[in-house]
Amino acid sequence: MTTSLLYDTEATPTSAPLQTPEIPHANSESSAPIAAPEVVNPTLAEVRNPTGTDALLGAHSADEYTSLMHNVVDALGERFRTTERAASAKDRSGLQAAVDAVDLDTAGVGNTEALREVDALYADNAVWFHHPSYVAHLNCPVAVPAVAAEAMLAAINTSVDTYDQSEVATLMERRLIDWTCGHLGFAGGDGIFTSGGTQSNLQALFLARENVVAGLADHADESERGGSVDAEPRRGGPDLGEPTRRDQLSRLRILATDQAHFSVSRAAFLLGLDAEAVVTVPTDRTGRMDAEALNASLLAIDANDQIPMAVVATAGTTDLGVIDPLETIAEVCSSANVWLHVDAAYGGGLLWAPARAHLLDGISGATSVTIDFHKTFFQPVSSSALLIRDASLFAPTIHHHDYLNPEAEAQAADAEPNQVDKSLQTTRRFDALKLWTTLRARGATEIGSMLDTVCDLAADVRALLEDQADFEVLGASDLSTVLFRFTPVAADQVTCDELVPLIRRVLFRSGRAAIARTVIDDRPWLKLTLLNPDTSIDDITAVLDLVRATGHGILAGRDLEGAADIESAATEGGAA
Ligand SMILES: Cc1ncc(COP(=O)(O)O)c(C=O)c1O
Repeated sequence: MTTSLLYDTEATPTSAPLQTPEIPHANSESSAPIAAPEVVNPTLAEVRNPTGTDALLGAHSADEYTSLMHNVVDALGERFRTTERAASAKDRSGLQAAVDAVDLDTAGVGNTEALREVDALYADNAVWFHHPSYVAHLNCPVAVPAVAAEAMLAAINTSVDTYDQSEVATLMERRLIDWTCGHLGFAGGDGIFTSGGTQSNLQALFLARENVVAGLADHADESERGGSVDAEPRRGGPDLGEPTRRDQLSRLRILATDQAHFSVSRAAFLLGLDAEAVVTVPTDRTGRMDAEALNASLLAIDANDQIPMAVVATAGTTDLGVIDPLETIAEVCSSANVWLHVDAAYGGGLLWAPARAHLLDGISGATSVTIDFHKTFFQPVSSSALLIRDASLFAPTIHHHDYLNPEAEAQAADAEPNQVDKSLQTTRRFDALKLWTTLRARGATEIGSMLDTVCDLAADVRALLEDQADFEVLGASDLSTVLFRFTPVAADQVTCDELVPLIRRVLFRSGRAAIARTVIDDRPWLKLTLLNPDTSIDDITAVLDLVRATGHGILAGRDLEGAADIESAATEGGAA
C-alpha cells in the first residue's frame, strides 16, 4: 500500500502509531520473524526543537518551508511569465560588484530576506534557456514535472549510494536503468546515473581500461599456467611477457575523431594514459567517423604493438550535430574485439523520438553508452546515465568498504543493492526521480517528439540561411545545431572570420540573443543549438536579423548597444 501525506484524499490521523511490520530474518530459510521494536511516532506538537531556529528542514520548520517555497515559486513563475531577455544585459564589472558587495560573514538576514536577495542577484541576472533567443549551447528548457520532482528530491535529500540511504529510490533508479537498457537493446545491461556526459564518458573509459587490463592479466596468467591461449583477452595482441600495469597503460589507445567531445581526451589524461593515447580517426566530408579509416587505425595500432582500449563513436557531435555510422563501427569493433563506447550525450534522446529513432540503429552493438537526459530529454541539470551492455563489466571496478557496502554482505543471496558499488561518486543525488516523474507525467513519446520538433526547426533554419546571400551555412546536422557565418559581399574572408566572435560577444552583452561560436577546420563559425520546441522559425529569423544588424554595426565601426566596448570585444573574441 502506498501512502501520500499530501495527495491522499483520506486524511491520516497524525497521532496514529506507526504499524511495525514483521521483518523476516535476512539470511534464514526459517520463516521465524523478528519483530521490529516498538516505534513511538511523535506528533507534530511533540516535536522537539531545542535550537529554536527554522534553519533546518524538519517537522518544526515544515510551515516555514512551505511558505518559503511558495514565495520562491511565485517569484519564479512571474519571471517565467515576463522575462524579456535571454541573458542579463549588465556588464561583468557591474555583476562582479554586486556579487562582491554581499557580506558572507555577517549574521544571517533570515530565510525570506536571503531568498529575496538571491532573487535580485541571481534570478534577475540569469541566463534563461527557455527564452526563444537563447540558442547557444546544449541547454534545454526543462520539463515542469521534473522541476517539481527536483524540489522534492532536494527536500528529502536522498543519497542513492547505499540502499539504507535510499531504499525505494535505488529501486526506482535501477528500474530506469533497466528501462533505458531495454531501449538500447542491452538485454543483460546495467548502468548508473551520473552528473553529466563528462562523467559518463570518464567512467565508460575507466571501465574499458580496467576490463582490458584485467583481460590482459587473465591472458598472462593463462599463458603462465600453460593454459589454452584460446581464452583470448578482450583484445588480442602480441605476447606480453610479464608487463607491469604501467607498461600496459602506456600501450593503451583510444580511437576517436577530432569531433569527439573534449571529455574523451580529458578522461585519457585522468586515467593516466600516454600523452599520445588518443588516436584521431579521420572523418568523411560530413564530419562523421570514416569506418574504413577506423579499421586501418586499428591495424596500425596492432602493428605498433599498442593495445586498442576503446573506440569512441559520437551520436550527435557537439558542433556539427552528426552521428557517426554506428552500425558499421559496431561491426568493425566486434570483429576486432574492441570496446565500443558511444557518446550519445547529445543524441541519446533520439531513442524516443518517433521520426528519428532509426538514426541510432546500431547502438545496440556498443559496449557502453552515455546519454544525457539533461540535454535532449528536457531534464534539469544533472541527469545523465552511463549504460553498459553487460552488467559483469562493472566487476573490475567494484570496491567494498566496511562502513557502506561490506564485501561479506554483498555475497548474501538477498544482498542489499548498493549503487555505490558502481558509481564514481559516493553521496549522489536522486536525479533519476526527475526522469521518472517526467515519464509518468508526459510519457516518453511526447518528450521524444519535442526533440523531433527542434531537429525539424534546425532543418528549416538551415534552408532559410541557404537562401540568404549574406550568410554561409556549414554541413547538415542530424540533430539541432546550425553552423553559419555572416558573409556580406563587402567583407573578405578574414573580416568574416573576425566578425564571428565579435557578433557573438556584442549580442550576448546586449542580452538580446545568446548564440555560440566554434571553429571547424580552422574557420570560425557562429552556432545555433536549438533545443526549445516552442521556438518558431520567426523567433530565429529575428535572431538572424540581430546577427546581420550587429555585423553591419561592427563593420560600420559603431556599437549597437552603445555600451559594449568593441575594441575589447575584438581582443577577447579573437583570443577565444
Ligand atoms: C557529445 C558530448 N559529449 C559529452 C558532453 C559533456 O556533457 P556534460 O556537459 O553533461 O558533462 C557534451 C557536452 O556538450 C557533448 O556535446
